[in-house]
Amino acid sequence: MNQLLVALDVDSRAHALDLADQLRGTVGGFKIGSRLFTREGPSLVTALADRGDRVFLDLKFHDIPSVVGDAVRAASQLGAWMVTVHGSGGQAMLRAAANAARESERVPLVVAVTVLTSMDPAELARIGVHREIPEQVEALAALATASGCDGVVASPREVARLRSTLGPAPIIVTPGIRGGPGGGMAGGDDQVRTLTAADALSAGSSYLVVGRPIIAAPEPLEAARAIGAQMVSLPAQP
Ligand code: C5P
Repeated sequence: MNQLLVALDVDSRAHALDLADQLRGTVGGFKIGSRLFTREGPSLVTALADRGDRVFLDLKFHDIPSVVGDAVRAASQLGAWMVTVHGSGGQAMLRAAANAARESERVPLVVAVTVLTSMDPAELARIGVHREIPEQVEALAALATASGCDGVVASPREVARLRSTLGPAPIIVTPGIRGGPGGGMAGGDDQVRTLTAADALSAGSSYLVVGRPIIAAPEPLEAARAIGAQMVSLPAQP
């Protein structure tokens, strides 16, 4: 069950800590994104890390290489276990992030975001990308791993193809998990290209990020257990 990461997409430290207290021991870690981080700041990362939690700091760094390297170092000092960068930041930036992580005392995992799930071909074309989405995802994933990153974030429908091209080692982190026995659909929905937890793992995901089906459920612990139950019978991915 430690492959299940819960997105703490809430607005307050108190709510985030309460969810973490309920779910600790049942899930494998907690994702803090820019919404919660901007409201509550770095001390929340430290607070969770001090409680022994794996903190996935999802701030999607995208800047000049030295700044991103420094940001990764800072995240590591806070106790982050995994951080995100934008694959489209380019080779030098990805290398700076990976090197900064490796030189840090705690060596956080660095995973690169490929194409945001909100992008469609028209939006990609507006920023000058004319490749098909799967090709763009694959190109950025190859660049990220060749630049020393530990893996990528990818939508569930891209996982099988990515796993076959990247091989077994790179981490693939997958949001967009929905459904399955007890998997839940709480919280309204803007996730479109979804898979069940079991199917995402079978396709080759290393970690699943689940937010609203757990945090917006009437009983978050029960929801996490139900999703965890879908995952336990499957062989672990790297
Ligand atoms: O949808 P859910 O609440 O499970 O979202 C978990 C994570 O998935 C979010 O924290 C966000 O990073 C990501 N997400 C996404 N595409 C969306 C909605 C959320 O990749 N359309």
